[in-house]
Amino acid sequence: MGRDVIIACDFDGKDELMKFLSLFEKESLYLKVGMELFYAAGPEIIKEIKSRGHKIFLDLKLHDIPNTVMKAMRVLRDLDVDMCNVHAAGTIAMMEAAIKGLTKEDGSRPLLIAVTQLTSTSQERMEKDLLIEKPIDEVVMHYANNAKIAGLDGIVCSPLEAGKVHEKCGADFLTITPGVRFADGEVGDQVRVMTPAQAKEIGSDYIVVGRPITQAENPVEAYRRCVKEFVG
Ligand code: C5P
Repeated sequence: MGRDVIIACDFDGKDELMKFLSLFEKESLYLKVGMELFYAAGPEIIKEIKSRGHKIFLDLKLHDIPNTVMKAMRVLRDLDVDMCNVHAAGTIAMMEAAIKGLTKEDGSRPLLIAVTQLTSTSQERMEKDLLIEKPIDEVVMHYANNAKIAGLDGIVCSPLEAGKVHEKCGADFLTITPGVRFADGEVGDQVRVMTPAQAKEIGSDYIVVGRPITQAENPVEAYRRCVKEFVG
């Protein structure tokens, strides 16, 4: 599986996204479309991006009963996305149902990735709000293993956790890692960050990079720098 840079398209709407994409004439990009953009612009935005030759990680983080997730995944499969995700908290049965919904008649399907514990959930909130009393690292690794058992392709995690995830779940279990910053760049609201080169070193399979590219003075240059550092 090839290493790749995924650009987080956290834009308010379609116009801003299209303006950004128009900067890239030569590159075929891998774009992460999240809930805000998808809910605002609808499935049409996916078709439009695909028609320009870009790949899509549709970051909708599904979490519902297995039957509903299966049917929703069937819709995403027909949108021809390249990667999508679910919450591992939905259980192994839900993740298996997601795979069933995503799989085409010929057996092929988009990559399916699990979200473990969101980085916005602290140990304290997990214990008090969710009544999960194990250490958060253990919970993340347990969810990763559940995703592996269900047949998913990998998880979203911090680049700092990528090595451990590969140790537990195997080298070919994908790690998709946000929290990436250039060595000379602004960190912003991210807390635990790594450079693209460090993420490569530690074994991330895909890095998700937003503002260091989208808010750069020259986004094309920033993207190329990122690819050069991470992919080589
Ligand atoms: O702009 P920035 O590079 O921080 O964007 C990172 C992207 O990855 C955002 O879309 C953010 O929501 C997402 N993300 C994250 N941390 C996680 C999971 C997702 O930053 N733990």
